[in-house]
Parts: sequence; structure tokens; C-alpha cells
Amino acid sequence: MDPHVSPEDYARIREQGRVARVSFVLGDKTGVAPESDIRDFLKQEHLFVSRYDDVVAALLDSRISSDPRTAMTPEQQKKLPQVPEEMRPIARSLLSLDPPDHTRLRKLIQPSFTPRAMEALRSRIQRIAEDLVDTAERAAAERGETGPERHMDLIAEFAYPLPVKVISDMLGIPPEDRDLVKAWTENLVRNNNGRGMMDPENRAKIREFTDYLRRLFALRRKQPADDMISQLLRIEEDGDTLNEEETLSTVFILYLAGHVTTVNLIGNGVFALLHHPDQLAKFKADPGLVKGLVEETLRYWGPVDFISRRIAKEDMELAGTHFSKGEPMMFGLASANRDPQRFSHPDEFDITRPDADKHVAFGKGIHICIGAPLARMEGQIAFETLFRRLPALRLAVPSDEVRWSNSFLRGFAKLPVLF
Ligand code: HEM
Repeated sequence: MDPHVSPEDYARIREQGRVARVSFVLGDKTGVAPESDIRDFLKQEHLFVSRYDDVVAALLDSRISSDPRTAMTPEQQKKLPQVPEEMRPIARSLLSLDPPDHTRLRKLIQPSFTPRAMEALRSRIQRIAEDLVDTAERAAAERGETGPERHMDLIAEFAYPLPVKVISDMLGIPPEDRDLVKAWTENLVRNNNGRGMMDPENRAKIREFTDYLRRLFALRRKQPADDMISQLLRIEEDGDTLNEEETLSTVFILYLAGHVTTVNLIGNGVFALLHHPDQLAKFKADPGLVKGLVEETLRYWGPVDFISRRIAKEDMELAGTHFSKGEPMMFGLASANRDPQRFSHPDEFDITRPDADKHVAFGKGIHICIGAPLARMEGQIAFETLFRRLPALRLAVPSDEVRWSNSFLRGFAKLPVLF
């Protein structure tokens, strides 16, 4: 199947049984090289858990590992896509660790993501959102455009810069380095020159980013600031609970996991609203519905369609199916979120749905998204600010011309709007 499977495809997969055998066929325009490990890996058949109850149970099952290095035999590991040296910090991040290392690392960064810590960021995020709207208005004025016929690409001018500014602030990237970091992280998250992770140019850019972070760590060791990097370095120095490689992995994963996902939450929510005028009218009449809008966007078009790196630690039964030790499995988050056994009329976009927040767009269990409170707040601020400041916001092209991007995450590379 194509990485961007339609709701109808997911419905067919769910009907096939609780666990389906699927393989991904990548089109030519995916930005993934024609001959690449990742393409070969995806072509292999995967066991795909598709229904809500089974996905939740699987994510809570301690017989399932996230770490191929411990859960797979050397022969099984050989079939996985090769990870270049430069990508090690990502390959060994929180996402790919099992307890006890996972528990230890997660406990160290958790305090930065409590709802209370998030509330402290609210006014800063609000400022960033207002500034981005100001900038889009100024750019339109400079082109001689006047409202309501002004243009912008909502992704490039609003949804993309917002989360990267927020995460750079949290980590404490100095303002003068922001453009450099932006270029590196774009490379990291978009990997968009079509040549894949093994490409020497991409690898060199990742190395530059890593070297930069190590230099910043050295600086913050000497001159700590009130930011997350200084906090992680303090933990590193206070005892043997965190080493420099782990600090590096953590910073990398925060950029990677916290960036395009949030871009897509904003882009997908705006498009969903503009595509459903009845819901847009409801939201405009009662902006207090913004929490429901965020949750329903996550359920209806969550940025992460599936989780693909889980491995059976032992021979086991799951969702009525036998899995052998070392066997990889996939969990369909998007499929679970449209399961009619869990959500009534699952293919309707309804921002007043009372149980929308029962979605699994952030996963479940020990790896549940640590950034969820941040993403929710960014989404709420983004939607509230956009529709308050730009009440004439609408699509600049027919909605069927808006296409999902070729990335593995569900979202739009461009969203042309008028305001
Ligand atoms: C709408 C936005 C987001 C979505 C849909 C999302 C989705 C997810 C999902 C599905 C997982 C679980 C992956 C798994 O079990 O393998 C996850 C984990 C994670 N997310 Fe998010 N995420 C979002 C935003 C963020 C943000 C803003 C941050 C931080 C700045 C973040 C940081 C992380 C980290 C560090 C993990 C790994 C947690 C662990 O392994 O214990 N995410 N995210």
C-alpha cells in the first residue's frame, strides 16, 4: 500500500482481520532513493494491527520491544535498513529504548513537559503566533496585496516556523544561530533532496548539526542558562544518570519528533476546517471549541499514521495472531482512530465529538508522546490566533488540488490560502 492510505483502505484492512499482512510500495516521488534500504525494508510484508482495542492492548504490552538491538537476532537485524553513523543519536533515542534505560531517560526530561511547565510557555508561544501573522501581513502588504485577497502559504509562513521557534526557545538555541539550526533541522526532518539518509551530503549536514550541539553544550557547561540544554547538562554533571551521547540523542529527538508532527497538526486542522464549512462556522461562533478542534484533528487526520518499529520479545499471541520472537510488527494509529467499533461515524469531522480525545494519535503506554501537552497547546494557540486575526482565511485553490506530502507523516508540504 501507499504510505498515505485512505480511510477506505484502512476500513478494508480492518475488515480483513485483526492483524493484516501489508507491504508498502513507494511511488517515485517520495523523496526516497529508488534503491535504498528503507525502500527494501518497506517492501517486505509487515504484520499490521488495525483495530482500536488491539492497537491499545499492543502498545501496553510489555512483551513487545522498541529496541531491535536487544529484541532481534543478528540475522533479523541484518534485514533492517542500515543506520549511518551520523544517525546513531536518533537510532538510540528514547523512542528506540526499552526499560530500564527508557525509564531513566524519560524521567529526566519529563519535568520539562508537565502541564505546569507548558503553561509557563503559553505567553511566549502566543507571541510567536502573533508575530508570524504580523510577518505574513507585512509580506502581503509589500506585494501590494490587500485583505481579503492577500496570499500566503500557511505551511511555510505559519505552521512550519511556529514549532521550530518554540522548541529552539525551550532548548535555548541562541537567537543568532537560529537560521543555521533551521537549515540543519530542515535537512533532518525533510531529508528532501531525494537521496536518502545514506547520502554523503545529508550525512555531512547531520554531522555539522551534531558538532554545533557539542560546541553549544561546552558553552552551556561554562555559562548555564535557564533552558533545557543547561538543565540536561546539569543532570549529566550531577551524577552518572545521563551521558553526553544521551543528551545529544534527546536534543535530536525533540527536534525530530516535535517538529513536523506539530506542523502537520496545524496544517491538517486548518485544512479540515476550511474543507468543512459547517465546522468552521461552529468554531467561529464559539472559539472555546478549540480544544475539541485539536483533538478531532488528531483523531481524524493525526500526523502519525502508524508505529512501525515494534518487535516481539518472545513467541506470543496478540490480536488472535501468533508472532515469533524477533518478528517486527506495525500498529495502525490512523486506522484505530477511524475504527467504527470505537468512534461513531468515524469518517465525519466533528469538532464537538465528545470522545475525540480517546484517539491514539500520540500513541499509548510507556512511549506515549512526551510532547503531547506542548503539541496540544501549540495547536490550540495556532487555531485560535489564525481565525481571530484572519477571519477571511480560506483556501486559495480548489480543495482537491491540496495533496498530502510525500513524507511518511500525514500532512501538507504546501497549503495556499487567501486572507
Ligand atoms: C501533534 C504533534 C505530535 C504527534 C502527533 C506526536 C506523536 C507521537 C507518537 C505517536 C509517539 C509514540 C511513538 C512510539 O510509540 O513509537 C511520540 C513519541 C514522542 N514524541 Fe511526539 N508527537 C507530537 C509532538 C511532539 C512534540 C511537540 C514533542 C517534543 C517537543 C514530541 C516528542 C516526542 C518524544 C521525545 C517521543 C518519544 C517518547 C518515548 O519514547 O518515551 N512529540 N509522539
